[in-house]
Amino acid sequence: MAGKLYRIGVMGGDGTGPEVIHEGLKVLQAASKKFGFAMDLVNYDLGGERYKRTGEILPDSVLAELRKLDAIYLGAIGHPDVKPGILEKGLLLRLRFELDQYINLRPVKLYPNVDTPLKDKTPADIDFVVVRENTEGLYTGAGGVLRKGTPNEVAVQESINTRMGVERCIRYAFEFCKNRAKRNKLTLCGKTNVLTYAFDLWERAFYEVAKEFPGIQPDYAHVDATTMWMVKNPEWFDVIVTDNMFGDIITDLGAMIQGGMGIAAGGNINPRGVSMFEPIGGSAPKYTGKNVINPMAAICAGGMLLEEIGEKPAGQAVEQAVITALSGGKIKSLAAGKMGLSTTEVGDLIAGLV
Ligand code: IPM
Ligand code: MN
Repeated sequence: MAGKLYRIGVMGGDGTGPEVIHEGLKVLQAASKKFGFAMDLVNYDLGGERYKRTGEILPDSVLAELRKLDAIYLGAIGHPDVKPGILEKGLLLRLRFELDQYINLRPVKLYPNVDTPLKDKTPADIDFVVVRENTEGLYTGAGGVLRKGTPNEVAVQESINTRMGVERCIRYAFEFCKNRAKRNKLTLCGKTNVLTYAFDLWERAFYEVAKEFPGIQPDYAHVDATTMWMVKNPEWFDVIVTDNMFGDIITDLGAMIQGGMGIAAGGNINPRGVSMFEPIGGSAPKYTGKNVINPMAAICAGGMLLEEIGEKPAGQAVEQAVITALSGGKIKSLAAGKMGLSTTEVGDLIAGLV
C-alpha cells in the first residue's frame, strides 16, 4: 500500500533557521523513505529579510495557503535589524493565534551523553513535558497605553484567560499525560496566592477536568516554586500545564537543564488543525552561514512534527536516531561551534541512523 502524502510548509526564517531546517529535512526525508510516506514541501519566504525587502510580514494570501497544509516546519524568527516585537507579534504570534495552535508542547528530556548544569542528575531524572497555553494570557495584546512618553504615562497589559481556552489546554494536558503513561502525574503551575482571578479559574477548571482522569494524579505548584523544583528535583515532574507567560519562562529553564538551546524543540499544536514545529532557540544571527550551529533541536522538532501528523513510528525513529548519535560519542558538545562536527555533518550522521 502506498504511504500517505503530506503537504508541509517550510519556513527557514532568519539567521541560522534555514541551515538547521535543511538538516532537519534531510532527516525527515530519510524517515519518509524508511517508513513509506511522502512529503510535498512548500517553501515560504517569511521573516526579517522579507520584511526588510518588501515590508511584508505575513500576507493574508500566504496565511490562507498555510491553513491548507498538514503542518509547518519553522526555523527561527528574529532579525538584528528589525525592532523587537515586529516579527514576533506579526509573524510568530500571529501564526499561533490565527491557526489556533493553542498548545505549546515542550519536552524537557536529558539525552544520554549530554551535559546538564544540574549536579548528579541523569537522563532518568530529567524527563518531563511542559504543556503551555499558547493563545491567551499576557500574549493577546490586550491593554494599551495612555499619555505615552509623558511623566503620567499609563501602561496596561492584561492577562486574558477564558474558561474555554484554559479548559481545552488542561484537557489536552491530562490526555497527553495519560497517553504518555509514565508517572501519571500532572502538575498545574500557577500563582494562586497572588493572581487570584486568573489562577482561580485555572485551578477550578483543573480539578474539574481531573475528575475525568481518575488514573492521573493532579498536583499543583506555584510558578516560583516550579523553577526551584526544576533545578533541585526535576524528577518530580511528569507533565506540567501552565499559562502562556509562565510556560514561556519555565521552558527556557527547561531547555537549559536538558543541555541547552541546541537540543530544545517545541510544537505549536492545534490538535484539529495545522500545527507548527520549531527549535526554540531563536535565529542565533552571529553563527549564520558558518556551518557550526547545532541542528539537533530542529531535527527533534521534525520528529515531533511526524508524530503529530500521524507518522508516530517515524517520529520516534527520528528521536531514537538523535539518541543513538549522541550515545556514539562523536558529538562532543551541543554548543554551536563546539560540536566537533559541522552542522551538515550532524545532519548526515543522524539521517544515516534513522
Ligand atoms: C518562544 C519565544 C516567543 C514567545 C517569542 C519569540 C515571541 O520566546 O517561542 O518561547 O515568547 O513565545
Ligand atoms: Mn520563549
